[in-house]
Amino acid sequence: MSKSSLAIVTGGTGAIGTAICAALHADGHSVAAIGHPSEAEKIDTWRNGLAFEAHVYLADLADFEATTACLASIEAELGQAAVVVNAAGITRDAPLKKMDAQAWRAVMGANLDSVFNVTRPLITAMIENAHGRIINIASINGQKGQFGQTNYSAAKAGMHGFTMALAQEVAKHGITVNTVSPGYIDSPMIRAVPEPIRDNILSGIPAGRFGTPEDIARVVAFLAAPESGYLTGANIPVNGGQFMH
Ligand code: CAA
Repeated sequence: MSKSSLAIVTGGTGAIGTAICAALHADGHSVAAIGHPSEAEKIDTWRNGLAFEAHVYLADLADFEATTACLASIEAELGQAAVVVNAAGITRDAPLKKMDAQAWRAVMGANLDSVFNVTRPLITAMIENAHGRIINIASINGQKGQFGQTNYSAAKAGMHGFTMALAQEVAKHGITVNTVSPGYIDSPMIRAVPEPIRDNILSGIPAGRFGTPEDIARVVAFLAAPESGYLTGANIPVNGGQFMH
């Protein structure tokens, strides 16, 4: 384990985020989960349901100033982060001909601006500490596109562009930057897809099942390990064989 073992997980109170917090905690990290302010009333229930201790913060990660203030509180209370997992994300699905600017901006803000807003304030200390693990949770739909998701597919593809560029900038500082691209994971986000469409998606997954949040967390924990220092700039698909390239 590195000097600092703090892991920050954005979207840490969501289905995939919670599993990531658990896996990183099991590997010896202290964990700070960042959720959205709209979740304030649910946080105690979330925390009480955990089998491990997690610190929880709330911030609108689409807002740079709010994010910077939140990260400053985390550093003051828990120290500097060795690992950041950008897992915050939302969908606002609609065909482009029906998509309004609000649905576009909301998805770009929560899914892509958040990656800059979180990573930018943390990168200086990681460079000074000569260690860091940055893991961006994108999506199969950023790799292949998805009917009804011009916003989400663009944001998720953008996350991997960010990964590849930053990986080159910080490799010599002992920092790795990778993308994990989940397929369809059993979660509220997938359950919101109309059932006939969901059944059709399931029939196209060679593994014959939706993924579990733990399927994603396992890969994140591997990338977060101090020993995983020579794997950087990659986009790792975890999708049950639904899309290969
Ligand atoms: N490919 C081609 N055509 C499609 C299609 C597809 N995948 N899906 C729908 N269509 C067609 C329909 O057959 C229909 O055709 P007709 O007009 O000829 O009848 C037409 O498109 C429907 O268009 P509408 O304008 O009526 O669309 P809508 O307003 O009803 O909503 C939608 C469309 C909201 C995008 C809906 O199709 C949908 O929810 N799709 C699922 C999108 C999806 O997979 N989201 C993933 C969410 S989970 C996630 O994002 C996590 C992750 O990372 C994987």
